[in-house]
Amino acid sequence: MAIQNLLFLSWSLFYLHLNPTSAQTPVKVGYWSSDSEFPISNINSDLFTHLFCAFADLNPQFNQVTINSSYATLFSTFTQTVQQKNPNVILSIGGGNSDSTYFAAMASQPGSRKSFIDSSIQLARSNGFHGLNLDWESHRPPPRWPTWAPYSLSGERRCGPSRV
Ligand SMILES: *[C@@H]1O[C@H](CO)[C@@H](O)[C@H](O)[C@H]1NC(C)=O
Repeated sequence: MAIQNLLFLSWSLFYLHLNPTSAQTPVKVGYWSSDSEFPISNINSDLFTHLFCAFADLNPQFNQVTINSSYATLFSTFTQTVQQKNPNVILSIGGGNSDSTYFAAMASQPGSRKSFIDSSIQLARSNGFHGLNLDWESHRPPPRWPTWAPYSLSGERRCGPSRV
């Protein structure tokens, strides 16, 4: 079920772009960044079907997803703060300021991928998120992208939203 939702939501974004006459409900996504000064309580969640809380970090030593302790309280209360209108609330990992080589190293080995995946699901669940988004940005793609993640034409890697 979780994987099916992942695929449906990922592909629905493409589908809606390619089929503007589709009767499906539009997907309206917004990011809130922990770098911003914008108060979470001021987000008008009525405008979105999905809200992304950005960014969780990849710890390169353990290949585990973590939340900076400076933002732990904001992340742990994000979902309940924005959920008045019931959007899907997604934990976003990575971002433009993260080191893409950490992601490449993590993705290169099955064991480190498992640590990453397991820790991301655990962290998302324990903070009340409904899904995950991997924002792995790299302007120089590694020689061989791992086959488990699609990437966009810009060379930027965005996966999700995916259900946890
Ligand atoms: C956590 O966030 C603070 C404030 O933005 C930053 O100064 C610090 O470097 C971050 N810590 C880590 C481990 O990224």
